[in-house]
Amino acid sequence: MARPKVSIIGAGNVGATLGLLMAQTGLCDLLLYDIQEGMPQGKALDMAQACALWGVNISVAGTNSLQDTAGSAALVVTAGLARKPGMSREELLKANAQIVRDILQEAVPLSPRAFLIVVTNPVDAMTWLAWRLSNLPPQRVMGMGGVLDSARLRAFLSTELRLSPQDIECMVLGGHGEQMVPVKSLIRVKGVAVESFIPEDRLQEIMQRTRQGGAEIVSLLRTGSAFYAPAASVAQMLKAVLLDERRLLACSAYLQGQYGVEGLFAGVPALLGAHGVEEVLEVPLTKEELQAFRLSTERLRELIEQLKEVL
Ligand code: LAC
Repeated sequence: MARPKVSIIGAGNVGATLGLLMAQTGLCDLLLYDIQEGMPQGKALDMAQACALWGVNISVAGTNSLQDTAGSAALVVTAGLARKPGMSREELLKANAQIVRDILQEAVPLSPRAFLIVVTNPVDAMTWLAWRLSNLPPQRVMGMGGVLDSARLRAFLSTELRLSPQDIECMVLGGHGEQMVPVKSLIRVKGVAVESFIPEDRLQEIMQRTRQGGAEIVSLLRTGSAFYAPAASVAQMLKAVLLDERRLLACSAYLQGQYGVEGLFAGVPALLGAHGVEEVLEVPLTKEELQAFRLSTERLRELIEQLKEVL
């Protein structure tokens, strides 16, 4: 069987790190696309040489032409502007919408069977835009947000408890923005509710740090936003689809009435397998959590309204 081809559109920090992580798995051939001449070609060559060290036999190529993405099994859109210190993800809306639109208009017809994974911020709105412009079934369009936010929460809890993140389960739902919802009632330490381990006020601090997790890194880096964990998050989603793992991952998926919301993309527990988002699970939330989730989707709806001008 031919290896699936994954095209990473935007070979900046997130795209290139994702390329390296996926190359290491040997699961797919890789194409890195970027508008900057020579850059994706150079990074691809470098990655191909890393593959020689790992004994991984895949093709890694770089290009400045979207035409080369033809026949992709997955298109990962990371292209766009990243936040600067003090900026919100939402401030990127219009500029990134145009970039995403131009890319998809050219790339989707060349890969009509592809999955789309959107990373460009503000991600839930961009994922909606990608779905609308691509005309793909919503099952095949997803955004990366919740996997990352959940990983951040898990990392903070792991440090706090001095316990392996493997033994901590949690999910962050809603929009990938300041109104994201770290779901306290779903945090489990080896199956036990987190309240037995961490006092409430400390837990609130940890959840707040999670909401600010991206901004904390932006303000430290000064010249860009996070990329290792974002790339690792996309890699986890890609792997779930390519290997038909049927994993339950928090990601931006199309809502059709789940949690009382419809017609937009927001972070929800999604079952990822060979068909993409095979199901959106409605997990029990407390009244307050459900309210917070809906509030965050209201904000997403406002962003979508603004995007209608770009269509
Ligand atoms: C972050 C970007 C990827 O949260 O939104 O770091």
